[in-house]
Amino acid sequence: MISARAAGKLFIAGEYAIVTPGNAALIAAVDRYLTVTVTEHNHAPSDAVSDRENPHTAAVPVIGASVIDAAYGDRAELTIAPDGTATIGDYPADALSAAITVVEQLRVLQGLPPINYELRVENDLTAADGLKFGLGSSGAVIVATVAALGELHQLALTPAERFQLALIASASLSVRGSGGDIAASTFGGVIRYISPDRTQIAADYRKGGLDGALNSPGWHGCLIEPVELHSDLHFLVGWTGSPAKTEQLVAKSKAAPVDPQAEALFLAKSARAVQEIAAVLSADTLDREQLQQTVAAARSALKEYGEATGIAIETELLSALCELALSAGAAAKSSGAGGGDCGIAFANDLATRQAVIQAWEGAGITVLDTCVTRGEGVCVEF
Ligand code: PMV
Ligand code: MG
Repeated sequence: MISARAAGKLFIAGEYAIVTPGNAALIAAVDRYLTVTVTEHNHAPSDAVSDRENPHTAAVPVIGASVIDAAYGDRAELTIAPDGTATIGDYPADALSAAITVVEQLRVLQGLPPINYELRVENDLTAADGLKFGLGSSGAVIVATVAALGELHQLALTPAERFQLALIASASLSVRGSGGDIAASTFGGVIRYISPDRTQIAADYRKGGLDGALNSPGWHGCLIEPVELHSDLHFLVGWTGSPAKTEQLVAKSKAAPVDPQAEALFLAKSARAVQEIAAVLSADTLDREQLQQTVAAARSALKEYGEATGIAIETELLSALCELALSAGAAAKSSGAGGGDCGIAFANDLATRQAVIQAWEGAGITVLDTCVTRGEGVCVEF
């Protein structure tokens, strides 16, 4: 039995800008997890192929495995074609099947035999009633699956290779997302992330398969570097209780006719804020004012971008969340695509932290009991 646990994520700054390749964002991995467990079946894979119906079909299943996850009505059959393509029941391709596909394709490329297994998903990134917090469960399911199946097939993947495979899986479904969620879940802690060209990588995947995607020029310029958080800093997460759809918000922002000059200005402002926040968060001495100013700069860049594109990034409750945290002496902004989900705050000391919590609770904002992971990324256990 192999279990891989991937952390959830929250954007600190650089949202929307990061969607354009070459731009930077700051993202935190948080200590709420999604776990994928694979258990090897004891019967031989050949048992499962004995009932092949049509040997001429390219998609003849070679493995009869199963997936256990409420998303598929508890249990569904997983079929893996000779080329590694995975299908879950009659469901269309999704984050999980895309993740299984990339690892199985790598196994095929390396000439390794198929293994029969059962794959189980345990998702602690959503609220008990199924409401999403916006902590990145679709990125985390890809990262955990790549790590678990990489171990099962003994592919000896490095963290960078896990990230590449996970990003390819994600880009095979949609190139809209920056992959920042995947980078944070893979590497843990706080990272500064510069996104690769997902359109190019997805095109090379379609044309040249996994090899083509792994060697795509689209990776050029992609960067992931750790940002050390000052140990006295308190990271606070407030949940608005209303889920937001990142994909739709990004699609709408991209479809909006934004003046190229305004777009360039937004990208420059966002880049400066990301750089400055990273410096302030890891400086030897914490400076409350600087922290508030740099986070406010990221907030105002997003506000302008929201106005230019016609999307409501900072909802009323997110605005209240920011103002309450500011009044309590913390720095605050919405996190991620906005439109709901979570806002974040940084408090310099315990008293400020308590004041923020009290103010948020009084305004109907749920304080999520979570903190930034200590640097470790996706963890594999046997
Ligand atoms: O709302 P979240 O936490 O999924 O963040 C989305 C951030 C965007 O930059 C808007 C999109 C992306 O994929 O980076
Ligand atoms: Mg969100």
